[in-house]
Amino acid sequence: MMIACIVDGKIAGNCQIAFRTGMKDCHRASVAIALLQDYWNLGIGTRMFEELFRAARARDGVRQIELDFIEGNSRARGLYEKMGFRITGVKPDAIRMRDGTYVNEYMMIKRL
Ligand SMILES: CC(C)(COP(=O)(O)OP(=O)(O)OC[C@H]1O[C@@H](n2cnc3c(N)ncnc32)[C@H](O)[C@@H]1OP(=O)(O)O)[C@@H](O)C(=O)NCCC(=O)NCCS
Repeated sequence: MMIACIVDGKIAGNCQIAFRTGMKDCHRASVAIALLQDYWNLGIGTRMFEELFRAARARDGVRQIELDFIEGNSRARGLYEKMGFRITGVKPDAIRMRDGTYVNEYMMIKRL
């Protein structure tokens, strides 16, 4: 499911939740979110997560929501921790930046 946030006819951002469908992993869902910078810090991200959690709770058997973020994205990490996600793992040097440096990617999980 994808949700778009539209402000004055313009798409300010979107978020999505993807539910796994396998017999052994259908208790898991993944989420992602991005807003245009003009719309940061207005509470839209928080509101979008509330809708994603509602969708997850409405689906039978979903127990955990997962996401990834890149080292240094403290704004995203702050929002995710506020929404109840906790770091559960790290992929070292998962992302190569334009300047040739490598940064870690962190996995987070929220239990429903
Ligand atoms: C990350 C993102 C979705 C946050 O959305 P948002 O609408 O700005 O978030 P909200 O206004 O609902 O929530 C702000 C929360 O984020 C956290 N936060 C905001 N700025 C922060 C900062 N500079 N450092 C740490 N945490 C911060 C706080 O917990 C804050 O909650 P509070 O206002 O109750 O204190 C948005 O900044 C974004 O789209 N960024 C670019 C794309 C991106 O990084 N996506 C995630 C990829 S993993």
